[in-house]
Amino acid sequence: MHTPKPKLPTIALIGTGGTIASTASDPTAMTDYAVTEPVSAILDAVPEITGLANVQYCQPFNVDSRCLDNKMVLKLARRVDRILADPSVDAAVITHGTDTLEETAYFLNLTLKSRKAVVMTGAMRPASARSADGPLNLYHAMLVAAAPDAAGRGVMVAMNESVHAARHVCKTHTSNVQAFSSQQHGCLGGIVNGVPRFFNTPASSHTLATDFTVSGLKTLPWVDIIYDHQSAGPHLFEASIAAGAQGIVLAGTGNGSMSPAAEKGMRLAARKGVTCVRSTRVGDGHVTASATDARQGLISAGSLNPQKARILLMLALSVTRDRERIQGYFDRC
Ligand code: SIN
Repeated sequence: MHTPKPKLPTIALIGTGGTIASTASDPTAMTDYAVTEPVSAILDAVPEITGLANVQYCQPFNVDSRCLDNKMVLKLARRVDRILADPSVDAAVITHGTDTLEETAYFLNLTLKSRKAVVMTGAMRPASARSADGPLNLYHAMLVAAAPDAAGRGVMVAMNESVHAARHVCKTHTSNVQAFSSQQHGCLGGIVNGVPRFFNTPASSHTLATDFTVSGLKTLPWVDIIYDHQSAGPHLFEASIAAGAQGIVLAGTGNGSMSPAAEKGMRLAARKGVTCVRSTRVGDGHVTASATDARQGLISAGSLNPQKARILLMLALSVTRDRERIQGYFDRC
């Protein structure tokens, strides 16, 4: 730890793992690496951060983001909430694997009860790589978190010189350093010649303006995602219902349209009291409400992709099972 500098903001750095904390056997290897680095090492690799902020770090876990489950995400949200409630902390930066970063980011965006800036980042190349992207991404995340106009924008994701809103950001490339996009919504801002610049403010409800909180929430309702396709069968719906799912998100075709088997499966699930959401496998655009949704007990996901629709549906089901109210959350959040 460095001696605190009184004029600098205090930023909590929360390490959770991912490629940013990984090393491979040689500098040209971009796959087959493992999480090896504690958050303290990631921080020490960027000494310029000491000129930006006084950093207090912690490490709730250090894993690939594919290994995260609801329990760990709840634990992380509680920890971040507690850290932000500390008056001596000005903002938080979270390092995370990129594979499911958008899910954790959206969960935190919906549940944290603070106006303070929260910026998530990660890396596409391991820390051992020639031209690793993690150190600059971390430096940029710190710059954004320290910016006076960063507060009140919900959870943000800083990757490859862009700043995205958690609500809209998606991973859209498997390996390129330009792996994140906010699609039709556009990003919130960017880091321009070392200066964070904001161009947009999120329009959807987040943090203090949502009905969701993790305080007192011990578990999350089980929600499955089912991917639709030509020649689909109803068996995945039957299995999900039999396993006790409380919600199903359909990664539907086109504008959330359903194969005959998906229609049958969604109807069956709705009859059994499972809350069913129509999202899309397309990757951009809205699933618009259909005249038959209400009659069939279905909810349209708007522009939330299936993995984000699952996050919102779990939180919505933790407060209500009313279809209209849940549709309202999908319309506003
Ligand atoms: C992960 O998501 O933990 C691995 C992939 C990455 O961080 O880029």
